[in-house]
Amino acid sequence: MAESWATFGRDLHLDLTGSGGVRAALTRALREAVRTGRLAPGTRLPSSRSLAADLALARNTVADAYGDLVAEGWLTARQGSGTRVAHRTVPRPGAVRAAPPEQDRRPAHDLRVGTADVSAFPRSAWLAAGRRAISTAPNDAFGYPDPCGHPALRAALADYLARARGVRTDPARIVVCAGFMQGLAVLGRVLRARGVRELGVESYGLWLHRDVLRRAGLRTVPLTVDGHGARTEELAGHRGVRAALLTPAHQYPTGASLHPDRRAAVVDWASRTGALILEDDYDGEFRYDRQPVGALQGLDPEHVVYFGTASKSLAPALRLAWMVLPGQLAAEVAEVKAAGEWGTGALEQLTLAEFIVSGAYDRHVRAMRLRYRRRRDRLVAALADRAPHIRATGIAAGLHAVLELPPGTEQSIVQAARWQGLALDGLTRFRAPDAPTPHYDALVIGYGTPPDHAFGSALEALLGVLP
Ligand SMILES: Cc1ncc(COP(=O)(O)O)c(C=O)c1O
Repeated sequence: MAESWATFGRDLHLDLTGSGGVRAALTRALREAVRTGRLAPGTRLPSSRSLAADLALARNTVADAYGDLVAEGWLTARQGSGTRVAHRTVPRPGAVRAAPPEQDRRPAHDLRVGTADVSAFPRSAWLAAGRRAISTAPNDAFGYPDPCGHPALRAALADYLARARGVRTDPARIVVCAGFMQGLAVLGRVLRARGVRELGVESYGLWLHRDVLRRAGLRTVPLTVDGHGARTEELAGHRGVRAALLTPAHQYPTGASLHPDRRAAVVDWASRTGALILEDDYDGEFRYDRQPVGALQGLDPEHVVYFGTASKSLAPALRLAWMVLPGQLAAEVAEVKAAGEWGTGALEQLTLAEFIVSGAYDRHVRAMRLRYRRRRDRLVAALADRAPHIRATGIAAGLHAVLELPPGTEQSIVQAARWQGLALDGLTRFRAPDAPTPHYDALVIGYGTPPDHAFGSALEALLGVLP
């Protein structure tokens, strides 16, 4: 007999092939499902009548198979509670050789950069926004979405970005993407199609982003980074470079904010040469010591593509980010995005729109800003007290700090930390291999990463490995 499906409240695949007749095949298939844990202990099986109907068998065949399995102890049959899977220890499939669960592989302390404190994700407020958004959405919100983003989210973002980051835009120029990574990949392809071959990058940055650009066919040209951010004046010396990826508000990962003269100079370079600046504003909301530095895009919306993301402000799992495009690029980006790069589900976009419009996003960002600032202050105070020879830089903003180390010590400290169960990164990891910038030894400390309750012990572990 061919394979068939039975309905147990959940679908269960039963393979009724094999020798010995239908009753034997069904008995074998059910036994197998119980033995391997596909049917969990306590699960109530359908009545013999309805399973027989589902499988197009005679009722007696099913009743006999049940009877066999009750006799063998795999099932129990009680008056009033039907036929159920017996409570016995059933090995889960692959249990013996399974990889250790995720939490067992996690380091005891995690101070790596790259993620927000995801334990603080505003679950209830997010669910409430989702409930409101989804219950009031028109039916067509459940159809294929606009690949450039849901209009409600684009409108909410246009207002929010103008108010909070000084971005000059309207919803038609906003494209929602599945994380900054997707936006960068799309833009890389658009640039390449326009004939751009070389793109300036900061000599410290995320290797993943350089890879994305390279995969789009662009050569990355590293710019020196110092205490005032990227030396944007170097761009004029590279005639082939027609675009630059920068993190102006908080250089990643050294933490400098781009000096006002360099901001003005890079915008001037772009408008003089027709080049494009890609502004990665990954943690622009988190500035502690003074008002956030406004977006570079506000200086010249026709030559700057602004990128924002929910990965730091909410959680990377959302895969929600946005780019604000110059008018001249909007159509080309829309075309690439529509050609198979859709990415983000409309219901999550609607939820974020509602989250922003209701004020929950602002409230969450303010609460997180306070939480991260407290941690930063604890880190700085602990260093002053117990490791006063270590200087912390890049601390005015963001979720991480750079701790400068004595020359030649970075690798051994990263290794020693690993042995102690403390995960952290050295600055070398972020350096472009062809970087002109003279390197210095340092740790990049993601103080935003651990949950609140684990921050104190992570800090202690860090202090324990510092020279
Ligand atoms: C420098 C930088 N830019 C952008 C992002 C955001 O990337 P995504 O939106 O793909 O999560 C990150 C990661 O959080 C980052 O470190």
